[in-house]
Amino acid sequence: MKLRKNLIAATMLAGASAALSFMSAGAAQAQGALVMYCGVQEEWCRAMTTAFERETGIKVSMTRKSAGEVFAQVKAEASNPRADIWWGGTGDPHMQAAEEGLTVEYKSPKMGELQDWAVRQWEQSKNRTIGIYSGALGFGYNTELIKSKGIPEPKCWADLLNPKLKDEVQVADPNSSGTAYTLLATIVQLMGEEKGFDYLKSLHKNINQYTKSGAAPAKAMALGETTAGIAFMHDIVTMVVDKAPVKVVAPCEGTGYEIGSMSIIKGAKNLENAQKFYDWALTPAAQKLGAEAKSYQVPSNKSTPIPPQAPKLEEIKLINFDFAKYGSSDERKRLLSKWDNEVKNLPK
Ligand code: G6P
Repeated sequence: MKLRKNLIAATMLAGASAALSFMSAGAAQAQGALVMYCGVQEEWCRAMTTAFERETGIKVSMTRKSAGEVFAQVKAEASNPRADIWWGGTGDPHMQAAEEGLTVEYKSPKMGELQDWAVRQWEQSKNRTIGIYSGALGFGYNTELIKSKGIPEPKCWADLLNPKLKDEVQVADPNSSGTAYTLLATIVQLMGEEKGFDYLKSLHKNINQYTKSGAAPAKAMALGETTAGIAFMHDIVTMVVDKAPVKVVAPCEGTGYEIGSMSIIKGAKNLENAQKFYDWALTPAAQKLGAEAKSYQVPSNKSTPIPPQAPKLEEIKLINFDFAKYGSSDERKRLLSKWDNEVKNLPK
């Protein structure tokens, strides 16, 4: 009887300690993980993942997606969030997510080291998203194709309407791509809504493809798959650095720009790690990885060196971009559905 009791006690103890060690393994695992949705170029996403893992021992599971796609996914997962941190991509869907309560407030101790535009983004989103980099929108062209086709070199947005460029211009779809949404918001701010949509409808005649990701047209230009392409200027610079026959243009009428942003997902299962990543991502050491991965944005920490290849924002005619308005949920939805209805499916 005594033996039986002892046996039962021993079994219970073993069971309890097994349960305990299982639980602590679970906790260790939870402590050691971070799920990131990444909105920049794959190479930079990978460099950030590896460096953060090396620095902290936290295992990062990273997925690269375009800005609008991340937004849609975060929204769809809101009742059971998979991701902890959303790092990179244009600010507009980060702002929309902030407004819709999909992301949480956070104040980083690194805040004081940042450029005003990065902090303004944080203030305008009620502390829910912060600027990590900035870059201007522009376009480019393949110098060999433009010459062989006898097309005058485009210098202005207006030049992209040249009938000689029929089916020769590529840009992303603003529903998936933050780059293309930046174009839509830029043209509307630059020309006014009516004239802006007239411009986009005329441009549609010259578009050969609306791609999913914003930087795809830069790559296609480099490969000679399209003569011209609209993208962030820094994404086209990457092609030039790789010695592609491509020229980058800052449009003569002026242009818009992005504030690439970062947000912590509401209900993040690894909240502490998300905050750790957030603080680290604002350091010069982390921000320097961009240029090393051939991403030439202007970093948000004042002490991060600006890559010499980065297009010089002070030399580009930038519009006074209204990030709060064009990142607001109503305006973003309205403009996207207007573009879908009036531009995307227009016959050519
Ligand atoms: C590229 C650029 C980033 C930009 C991002 C937006 O990765 O280098 O500066 O934020 O595109 O991506 P998307 O595919 O949403 O246009």
